[in-house]
Amino acid sequence: MNQTVIVIDFGGQYSQLIARKIRECHVYCELLPWTAPAETILEKKPVGIVLSGGPASVYEEDAPTIDRRLLEQGIPVLGICYGCQLTVHLLGGRVEAAAQDTAREYGRTATHYDAACPLFEDLPAEGTAWMSHGDYVSALPDGFSVFAETAHCPNAGIADPARRLYGLQFHPEVRHTENGTEMIRAFLEKVCGAQGDWTMQDYCERAIRAVREQAGDGRILLALSGGVDSAVAAALIDRAVGERLTCVYVDHGLMRKGESDAIEAFYSGLRLRFVRVNAQERFLTRLEGVTAPEEKRKIIGAEFVRVFEEAAREAGGADFLAQGTIYPDVIESGAAGGHTIKSHHNVGGLPQHTGFQGIIEPLRVLFKDEVRALGRELGLPEVIVGRQPFPGPGLAVRVIGEVTAEKLELVREADAIFREELEKHVPRVPADQYFAVLTNMETVGVMGDQRSYQRTIALRAVCTEDFMTADFTRIPYDVLAEASRRIVNEVPGINRVVYDITSKPPATVEYE
Ligand code: XMP
Repeated sequence: MNQTVIVIDFGGQYSQLIARKIRECHVYCELLPWTAPAETILEKKPVGIVLSGGPASVYEEDAPTIDRRLLEQGIPVLGICYGCQLTVHLLGGRVEAAAQDTAREYGRTATHYDAACPLFEDLPAEGTAWMSHGDYVSALPDGFSVFAETAHCPNAGIADPARRLYGLQFHPEVRHTENGTEMIRAFLEKVCGAQGDWTMQDYCERAIRAVREQAGDGRILLALSGGVDSAVAAALIDRAVGERLTCVYVDHGLMRKGESDAIEAFYSGLRLRFVRVNAQERFLTRLEGVTAPEEKRKIIGAEFVRVFEEAAREAGGADFLAQGTIYPDVIESGAAGGHTIKSHHNVGGLPQHTGFQGIIEPLRVLFKDEVRALGRELGLPEVIVGRQPFPGPGLAVRVIGEVTAEKLELVREADAIFREELEKHVPRVPADQYFAVLTNMETVGVMGDQRSYQRTIALRAVCTEDFMTADFTRIPYDVLAEASRRIVNEVPGINRVVYDITSKPPATVEYE
């Protein structure tokens, strides 16, 4: 059993980020909604509790709150933004709405820290913190003192060290806060006494044992999408049960250049049984004449399920279905007790098979970066673990309008060139996702002395923490120039390349 920290979620946009940062510090944590009963939280014997931010005001009727007893157990508590205000409110201090332009703060804010507080002990006294609040703490509860302040917010960091209660008005989990992760780490190590016992090496061994126990002598079937999650799940289950695992990879013909072959080459080297179903023609036929994005998605999802089920029957069925479900999927589908943001169907809508004795989900408690770390622990190559997110419907949503074999070839070649060029410049040009899109625009060009009338490729690259919001990557012109030069020279049918300079919102990352 790992030492556990509980993050109580008040609906703040950064709640998952807090949990990820805690895990980054090698401390296991779970994210629970504020409605979770105190007993449920205490049963987990947390070494610390973190109260997240949230959009509410503590003095609103029906404002989210917690059982006050959670502050009285001697368990260290760190309240962040709303969590800080709630702590103050529950313990008899005062929280007020900031009058316009006085205590209301938003964005990067110069902050002074007092090294007498363990959270700031080893950090510079001055730094930038990320603020985002309309309310502020105007009077401290008994026992509390101030340890951080800004020009407009005298109580930016507060604590009652005797009761081990801490509060930050700013967001240490957001990367714009300088040394924010160090503050979280200091809370975990110095206040909670966390020993950093959450490592992927330990997790890997335990997860392998758990899969063996659950599967017994049974056979396991896994739908491989080519993505990181199902790849890591496959590698882990392979370690656990070897040839009793069958992986079915449906090649829908919508993957990027060389990707399906790379997947096949890799899995053929493992002990498991690997089945590649070449269904490219089937998918293309179904997509003929279809231009609406949602219709494309539905067709691909439904066809995927049909092909997978046929392949599963041919492989002789299995006792268990394995899935690469990860923690954000669990949180966002409300299974952890929170609100449903979106229902996740793993592998493009695979239905809950009734013929199986059970579902095996060895990554259910892991965040994406942990899944990658686990993949490395399992010896997976970088092309698999470092793979950027790629939509289930594949290139079909990166070809605007009808999908044809010819158009797929254009986008595949352009995409490969763009990725190759950008990857030459890592880390100078950091991007979390980058790809090419074949637009439906044709324009006039001149090549040699010839007039051309051909298609336009749009290049897209974004930097993001969570893909809910994203900023377009500031790619230097020389890198764009080389990518553009190569694409128009090497991909016949393309005479124009544009770079997308919209962020999300208002645009989305993908075009469809
Ligand atoms: P958007 O376009 O919604 O993309 O800003 C956010 C992230 O989600 C990925 N994405 C998808 N992934 N099936 C998927 O598995 C889909 O239909 C899909 N649409 C978008 C996208 O690549 C980005 O990482």
